[in-house]
Amino acid sequence: MLEKHSRAHVLSRIRAGVLEQTTVDVLRANGLSERMDREGQPHDGMRVVWAGRDGIFIDVAKHVGKRFMTYGQTCIQEDLFAAADRRQALVLTGVERVTLDQLLSDCPLVRFRHNGDEIVLACEFVAGCDGFHGVSRSAIPVSARREFTKDYPFGWLGILARTRPLTDIIYANHPRGFALASARGPNLSRYYLQVPLDTKIDDWPDGRFWAELKARYPADLANEIVTGPSIEKSVAPLRSFVSEPMRYGRLFLAGDAAHVVPPTGAKGLNLAVSDVFYLARALRAFYCDNSTTLLDCYSEMALRRVWSSVRISWYLTMLLHRFPGSSDFDQRAQEYELEYLKSSKPAQVALAEQYAGLPFEGPN
Ligand code: DHB
Repeated sequence: MLEKHSRAHVLSRIRAGVLEQTTVDVLRANGLSERMDREGQPHDGMRVVWAGRDGIFIDVAKHVGKRFMTYGQTCIQEDLFAAADRRQALVLTGVERVTLDQLLSDCPLVRFRHNGDEIVLACEFVAGCDGFHGVSRSAIPVSARREFTKDYPFGWLGILARTRPLTDIIYANHPRGFALASARGPNLSRYYLQVPLDTKIDDWPDGRFWAELKARYPADLANEIVTGPSIEKSVAPLRSFVSEPMRYGRLFLAGDAAHVVPPTGAKGLNLAVSDVFYLARALRAFYCDNSTTLLDCYSEMALRRVWSSVRISWYLTMLLHRFPGSSDFDQRAQEYELEYLKSSKPAQVALAEQYAGLPFEGPN
């Protein structure tokens, strides 16, 4: 495994934190769940509130029999590093100038610089898990791939605080903009606010953040929010992006290297796990059964789950945010979509099914 940053840097970043049942199952099946099962917080569903009213609870457990876990990506990364150390896997950090070559041959080459040495690694396969800004996707010729992109005209300002979170994950649609209440532990809360793209963190001292957050929730929920000093604050733009296919010769893309979702829906990390599940299964079939069938359908199979999550993340983003420049018509249509969701059980079941994530496809 080649990593650009240091371990300390990787483990200092606050990232996603809501795990689908499928992700929880994959971590358990691979012996990676001991700490997650101890420290993670199970949830049966999530709440949506709007226009100062108490809204609805989307009961995912009741409708589709699946649960969620709030457990931080940073904790999963710690658990993965620990597992890699236990099996004495070679993990190189501080790796620079990575380039991929001869991807259409049986022996792709990965060249990089590490501790001042220029190294050429002869591989059998390359898993490109290096994120949206990584080198893997750009190693595929433009003529051999197609990109689908949507940029949203706002970002999320996120805050982490050592305070007791609200009991549920709660999405809020408010005239002042979207807000989200989430958690990373019994005494670690994560909150987000929709903000303009040019927002500067320095303009958002903690007091302003908490006041704005409370203004976007109905009074009873606002009163339950426990404030405190932030221990992390960041702004991220919202974007949908897919690059197809997810394979080029012996290079297989997984996670943000191939697709990005806006955080509404908490799908990014879960999709990365699902790609890796499909890829690991395909590589096992290659090495154990001498079969390339699953490698050959990796991209198609992974993309079905990717597009399902891309679509629901886009839908929730459109449903829950206030769009600059939206017309009165757009606004009314959004309000009535929320009313429909509140009044229709089939609509709630459909959202629950997609929010929970599609089941994995079988190997046949
Ligand atoms: C987080 C939680 C969510 O439910 C979501 O949609 C996005 C992010 C989080 O806890 O970071």
